Amino acid sequence: MCGIVGYTGKNPALPFLLEGLRTLEYRGYDSAGVELEAPSGSLTEVKCKGRVAALAALCEKLDATQTTGIAHTRWATHGEPSDANAHPHRDCSGRVAVVHNGIIENFQELVAELEERGHHFASETDSEVIAHLIEEALAGPAEGDFALAVSLATSRLEGSWAIACLSAASPGEILCCRKGSPLVLASTPDGAYAASDVTALAHTTSHVVNLGEGQIARLLPTGEVSVFEGDLTPVAEPDTFDIDWDASAATLGGYPDFMAKEIAEQPEAIERLLEGRLGQDGIVLDELRLSPEEVAAIDRIYVVACGTSWHVGLIAKTYFETWARIPTTVECASEFNYEEILTTDHTLCVIITQSGETADTLASARKMQAAGAKVIAITNVLGSSAARESDGVLYVQAGPEIAVASTKAYTAQLVAAALLALFLARANGAISLSEVRSRFREMQRAPELIRIVLSRAWQDEVAAQAFASAHSALFLGRGVSSTTAREGALKLKEISYLHAEAYPAGEMKHGPIALVEPGYPVVVVVPESHVRDKTISNLQEVNARGATTIALATNGDVRVAQLASHLLLVPPAPEWLSPVVDVVHLQLLARYVALARGCDVDKPRNLAKSVTVE
Ligand code: G6P
Repeated sequence: MCGIVGYTGKNPALPFLLEGLRTLEYRGYDSAGVELEAPSGSLTEVKCKGRVAALAALCEKLDATQTTGIAHTRWATHGEPSDANAHPHRDCSGRVAVVHNGIIENFQELVAELEERGHHFASETDSEVIAHLIEEALAGPAEGDFALAVSLATSRLEGSWAIACLSAASPGEILCCRKGSPLVLASTPDGAYAASDVTALAHTTSHVVNLGEGQIARLLPTGEVSVFEGDLTPVAEPDTFDIDWDASAATLGGYPDFMAKEIAEQPEAIERLLEGRLGQDGIVLDELRLSPEEVAAIDRIYVVACGTSWHVGLIAKTYFETWARIPTTVECASEFNYEEILTTDHTLCVIITQSGETADTLASARKMQAAGAKVIAITNVLGSSAARESDGVLYVQAGPEIAVASTKAYTAQLVAAALLALFLARANGAISLSEVRSRFREMQRAPELIRIVLSRAWQDEVAAQAFASAHSALFLGRGVSSTTAREGALKLKEISYLHAEAYPAGEMKHGPIALVEPGYPVVVVVPESHVRDKTISNLQEVNARGATTIALATNGDVRVAQLASHLLLVPPAPEWLSPVVDVVHLQLLARYVALARGCDVDKPRNLAKSVTVE
C-alpha cells in the first residue's frame, strides 16, 4: 500500500531514498519515484512505471548531490500504474512535491473545485490534490508558511494519508503528516528521516518517533524533528520507541529469496516467542494490560483479521472454545465492519495482523472499542497502529517479514493465539495448571517438528511437478486441517498465480468434485487426527476420479501412502498443534510451484504486504 521515505541532512539524499524504497518495496511495486531538492529550492524529479530497480537505473544518470528528498513506491488505487501516476506529484507551479500513502476519499470534489479555480492535473491519482491544496494555501491564507499550508491543506482531506512533501520556498524542510496510514521519523546527527515503517530506518537509528494520528512533523537538515498537532500546537513529548531488530534481519543472508529465508526461520521465531512464557501460575502474558478480573469475566470473543491472519483466527477459535470454553466468532475484517455486532458487557475482540496496519482490521478494532469491548492485538510490528490503539498487545516477535506472502508470521501468530487461549483458560478456571503445562510442553516441540518438515523440502519439490500443466488445484482437509488447506491454497494462489480452491473435505461432494478429472491436482491434508479416516474416504473419492493426489500425512501412515500419488510427510504431532507444523510443507510446495512457473515469490503481482486501504 505504498511506501514513502524522506531525508534531509548532511549527506546526499538519493542513496538512502533508493535503499529505503527497496526495503519498503513489499508495500507496493508498480511504480516508483523520487524528488530531490537543492539548497536553492530547485526540485528534480525522476519517476517511472515499474519497480525500484527501474527507478534506480534512471537515477544513475543524475549527478545527485542534493541532501534533501522524498520518494515513493506505489501500489495503485486510483489511476493505473504509469509514469504519470507515479509519485511524487507536483502542484501547477512545480514548486510543491508530495508523496502519499492512503486514499483521499473526497478527491473528486476537490479536483472539481480546484479545476474550477484554474488548477491543471497531470495524473489520475487521488494524491495529486494534496500538492494543489498546499499550493493554494501557500499563496493564500498560509502566506508562505509551509507548515501552516500543510495543516490547512490536510484539513480539507477525507480518507487516510501518510504524506511527505517539499516546497521550493522552504529549502531543506520536509513536512510530514499522517491520519490512518503509518509514518515513523528519526532524528540523527546526520539528518532527519521519515519512512512508512521502521524497516527502512533500521540502518540509520534504533530510536524512532511514531507520528501520531492527525499530527504534523517538520524535518530539518540539522536532524531536528518537531512534532505538532494538526492545528500546529507543539507536541511536547512525541511518541517514541526503540527498534528491537537489527538491520541484517531484513537482508537475504545467503538465501535465494526472502520467502525461503522466512520459511526457514520459523523454528527460531517460535522459540523466541515461547521464551519465558510459562510461569508458576500458568502462561505469562504481562503485556496484555488487562486486569485479572477483566480477563476472568470474558464471556465472548470476536476474532477479526484479514488474509492469512484470518486463517490464524479460524484455528484460534478452536483454541478459545476448547480450552477457555469461550464462544468465539471469527470474521474477516472487511465484512465485519459493515455487520451487526452482538457484544456483551465482557466481550473481548482479538485482532490478528502481522503488519499491525491493515486498514480493515484497525477499523474493526475501533468499532469494537466503540461498542465497549476490550481489544487485544496479536501483531508482529512493534509500535504499529494495532499495537498502539489496542487495550493489550501480544507481539509475536517473528522479526521482519519481507516476502509479501506471510509464512513465519503465520505460524508465530498461531502459537501466540494458543498462548492467549491458555492464558484465558487458566484465568477463568476452565483448565487446570497441569493441563496448561502439558499444552505448553507440546508447543515447545513445534520448532523441532518444523525442522523435520524443513529437512523434507525435497518432497515438496517433487510434488510440485504435479502442478506443471495444471490450471487449477483443490486443497482438502477436515477440522483444523481444513484451515491448513485454505492457507495452502492461498499461498499457492498468491505466489504462483495458479487458481486454487480449498474446501472442507466432506463438503467437496457438494460441488468441487465436479472439477476433478484425470491428472487434476488435489492436495489432501490428512495428518493423524480424530477425522483422519473420514478424510481418507474423501481422498479415495478424488482418486476414483483420476486426480493426482498430494497427501500430507503422518510418518508411517501406510494407508494414506498407498492411496496418494505424492506424499508430504509430517512427524506425529498433537492434533491442535498440527496446523503449525503441516502448513510448512504447503508453504514449501507453493514456493516450488511458483519457482517452476518462473514467478517472483517475494513480490507477487497486484499484492502488497501492508494493506492500508479499505
Ligand atoms: C495482505 C498480505 C497478506 C496478509 C494480509 C493481512 O493481503 O499480502 O499476506 O495476510 O494482508 O495482513 P495483516 O498485516 O493484517 O496480517
